[in-house]
Amino acid sequence: MDFKEKKGLIFGVANHRSIAYYIAKELSSLGAEIGYSYQNERILGSVEKSLNDLNPSFIEECDVLNQNSLDNFFKVAKVKLNQIDFIVHSIAFAEREDLGGNFSNVTKDGFSTALETSAYSLIPITKLGSEIMNPEGGSIITLSFEASQKVYPGYNIMGTAKAALENCVKQLASEYGKNNIRVNAVSAGPLPTLAARSIAGFKEMQKVHSDRSPLKRNVTHEEVANTSSFLLSDLSSGITGAIIPVDSGYGIMGL
Ligand SMILES: NC(=O)c1ccc[n+]([C@@H]2O[C@H](COP(=O)([O-])OP(=O)(O)OC[C@H]3O[C@@H](n4cnc5c(N)ncnc54)[C@H](O)[C@@H]3O)[C@@H](O)[C@H]2O)c1
Repeated sequence: MDFKEKKGLIFGVANHRSIAYYIAKELSSLGAEIGYSYQNERILGSVEKSLNDLNPSFIEECDVLNQNSLDNFFKVAKVKLNQIDFIVHSIAFAEREDLGGNFSNVTKDGFSTALETSAYSLIPITKLGSEIMNPEGGSIITLSFEASQKVYPGYNIMGTAKAALENCVKQLASEYGKNNIRVNAVSAGPLPTLAARSIAGFKEMQKVHSDRSPLKRNVTHEEVANTSSFLLSDLSSGITGAIIPVDSGYGIMGL
């Protein structure tokens, strides 16, 4: 994979455990020039610390719940990079009380927050990103989880959000295919990150995955980054609208 001539944007680095950080590390080592978003001032310190060695093109605030913030981020991206070849959307959030207990207790606000942050945000990011995408085409990926298809008690509203996200991937892939902009998702097995810490029963989820998956282990951050890089590279030029599992094969098992 060669990213020496490629430029892109990565949303979702919070710290050195973030999936987005591992993708950033791999793409940087392959020669990509990358601009990064950070959610808010509260996490800027850890984002800067994580990206210190990766020679970022720029690091700019972007709260995906705020359209002005999104517009401003893409203005900066245009000035700094002029045009881009790829985007990584690695963002999700739900209120802690909506990630455990009875699913039916979710409030309308909790539902909206989870869906808007974790699924809707891919739409404006793709739309604004397409305006500065290389006219020859580009590649966009997001991160999903198998709870989009099957019930994971504890994952609750985030399962609903991932189902919506995967549907957005397919609709956006259909719309932007004529511009040769591909949109895909990597559906990762459980990885210990900041976001994962909020999920009730996360440790058990990891244990069940490693016990029952064909590979008898959990996936690594690096494996998720490898498949992400492949989907962002020209090697995957025939793939769009796909949800690719990187889960040690867990998803194929019935028992
Ligand atoms: N960790 C896992 O087990 C796992 C498995 C499958 C999929 N995923 C998905 O991977 C993605 C990245 O999560 P992670 O596990 O690396 O955790 P993480 O906590 O490192 O990353 C989540 C990111 O979302 C960002 N974010 C949340 N709300 C935002 C907002 N309003 N505006 C801008 N950014 C916002 C956070 O700042 C953070 O950088 C998520 O979509 C997550 O659902 C994670």
